[in-house]
Amino acid sequence: MSDKPSAQRGKEQSNRSARDSSLAGDSGHLVVFDTTLRDGEQSPGISLDVAEKLEIAEQLARVGVDYIEAGFPVASQGDFDAVQAIARSVGNAPDAPAICGLSRTQLSDVDRCWEAVREAARSRIHVFISTSPQHMEHMLKMTQAQVLAETRGGVARAREHTDDVEFSPQDATRTPLDFMLEVLRAAVEAGATTLNIPDTVGYGIPWDFGALIQHIRKEVPGDYVLSTHCHNDLGLATANTLAGVQAGARQVEVCVNGLGERAGNAALEEVVMAFRIRPDQFPGVTTTVHTEELARASRLVARLTGYPVQYNKAVVGRNAFAHESGIHQHGVLADRSTYEIIEAASVGQIGRQIVLGKHSGRHAFANTLDKMGIHVQGDGLNQAFTRFKELADRKVEITEADLEAIVAEELGQDLVEGFHLEALEVAGGTVGMPRARVVVSRSGDKVEAAAEGNGMIDAACTAIRSATKVESRLIGFNVSSVTGGVDALGDVVVQLEADGLKVSGRGVSTDVVEASARAYLAAVNRLVRIRARNEQRELEIGP
Ligand code: KIV
Ligand code: ZN
Repeated sequence: MSDKPSAQRGKEQSNRSARDSSLAGDSGHLVVFDTTLRDGEQSPGISLDVAEKLEIAEQLARVGVDYIEAGFPVASQGDFDAVQAIARSVGNAPDAPAICGLSRTQLSDVDRCWEAVREAARSRIHVFISTSPQHMEHMLKMTQAQVLAETRGGVARAREHTDDVEFSPQDATRTPLDFMLEVLRAAVEAGATTLNIPDTVGYGIPWDFGALIQHIRKEVPGDYVLSTHCHNDLGLATANTLAGVQAGARQVEVCVNGLGERAGNAALEEVVMAFRIRPDQFPGVTTTVHTEELARASRLVARLTGYPVQYNKAVVGRNAFAHESGIHQHGVLADRSTYEIIEAASVGQIGRQIVLGKHSGRHAFANTLDKMGIHVQGDGLNQAFTRFKELADRKVEITEADLEAIVAEELGQDLVEGFHLEALEVAGGTVGMPRARVVVSRSGDKVEAAAEGNGMIDAACTAIRSATKVESRLIGFNVSSVTGGVDALGDVVVQLEADGLKVSGRGVSTDVVEASARAYLAAVNRLVRIRARNEQRELEIGP
């Protein structure tokens, strides 16, 4: 069986693992090349302004990536300005990443790209041209000879500006191997110092992509770094990237949250953590990424791009460290390593989140109550647990407020009466300060308060704070819709913190301001009740 990758073998299959390679594995530093601001920004619907790009670039510098591909300067004046601004500021900070710009082979593009990146302490020009028959015939309308000439010309021009030049044969994995090798040799002869192998349409399969990298290393002489650029059309971007590194690549091109054209690129956080968690598979390969900054980078990019992170996204998803099934919860409560391979804090996440739901066991139930300051044992615990299971069958997630109600109901506790929302009136819009007026009642007494705020929700919550006189800090606010459509129910969860206690409250209404006010008041009521219970307990225990 041939050990050449399928680009040359056609239909022949390869069963050779990249791990077998004698060429694989120059040990040493793995260059992390982040392209969130270039390929990531090409995701449909994303358009970042200069200030937003700068903010992301600053965070990428904190993450410690080696290169930031800041944009495609010739694409628009906005792109040029952003790349230049990043080169000037982030590119000159202490320990700054190198700043890279993308360029076609046209000489004027290359010059424009250089203009944008030149003021960074370290700058790179990334020159690309398509080499697959599909792209050459339908897009470039060029012959192989023309593509070769363009490659030589573009790379040589970039090399006149800087000695850090990357070259990419676009759609490499669908390019006939002999032609790709010829183009890559031409690029190295013209001065390219990094050869990037883009799996532009996500066509690669890990062992085949690894074999391709290995073959290129063998067949293209010269002093260059091989790089991977894998798209995720088959969900294999991270796997292909790792296979490439195992076969000898020493640069990985990645995006925060796996953003990028279509299904995206290999995710920065996944690739980096694979090296961190499985060094046995990549002996000697190291990165300088500060992994504790990954979650923050993920949140920032999600917020500025408007692309939410899927709940179960590896490493940075909100469920990545959450456990619902009883057996799993019991395990991680006993020892984290039972069901977690990554320490949450090592990627900047909050660990050991026990989510109570219908799969949860008694152990996690009791543990959560304990954390809420509710200590129940024996029969009381059994009764409350049975009731909790009944409720959990009907609801997806159980909030702390639900838990408190369950325990109160089962144990016949005399809960302190909370506040009720009697009336809410709000005014907002583009003119004037948003205002709210609320009436709350407690044990029959009504209190009215009014407030202004940053928006109608803020005003309503401030008015409630003033009416209830319960001080707290807002630490979480989440709005989701229960059903689709304009008449959807808004489901709001508010989290408050006071005196080291964290409580949440939930409110549902067709009006999101009302749902928010109800959620806020529910959280305030929880605070009031927990405080009353603690005071009661202290009285019972005595001095
Ligand atoms: O996917 C791709 O081919 C690219 C190149 C410009 C490197 O993004
Ligand atoms: Zn790409």
